[in-house]
Amino acid sequence: MSILTILEFPDDRLRKIATCVEVIDAARSTLIDDMFETMYESNGIGLAATQIDFHEQIIVMDVSEDKDAPFCFVNPEIIEQEGVDVSEEGCLSVPGFFEKVERAKKVVVSALNRDGEAFECSAEGMLAICIQHEMDHLNGKLFVDYLSPLKRQRIKKKLEKIHKTYRSRNN
Ligand code: NI
Repeated sequence: MSILTILEFPDDRLRKIATCVEVIDAARSTLIDDMFETMYESNGIGLAATQIDFHEQIIVMDVSEDKDAPFCFVNPEIIEQEGVDVSEEGCLSVPGFFEKVERAKKVVVSALNRDGEAFECSAEGMLAICIQHEMDHLNGKLFVDYLSPLKRQRIKKKLEKIHKTYRSRNN
């Protein structure tokens, strides 16, 4: 397995729309393993394929405290949603920033698991928020898009500065 590079805001590649997975072959299966490893290594609770520059509809998640409840959703689709919840979100592609975002409180998602079998998942709480956040990634959307333009701009500037410093240090 290997740790993959996570794209960071404002990288344009995070804006690509992911296509449907046609077949979960060996390469995609390895990619899913690598996504889990990358997510756990980064102390994240979710990761979308978009974030590692692979533009097909795959997300991995684990919102459990002991990191022992891995979930993989292929071609996920929200088929029902209910209520509204506001909570603080962060993102591995927007490191160091946490902001309040409004989401549906409960969602029912239909997807394929990593073996290509269809399943439905009824989620609330952290899992529901995480699913919606990760599905946004597949549509080229980030949690900063829900913030005011001023806030988003401030985050963008700070991250660009960090990226610039990092690049010059590594050249
Ligand atoms: Ni994210």
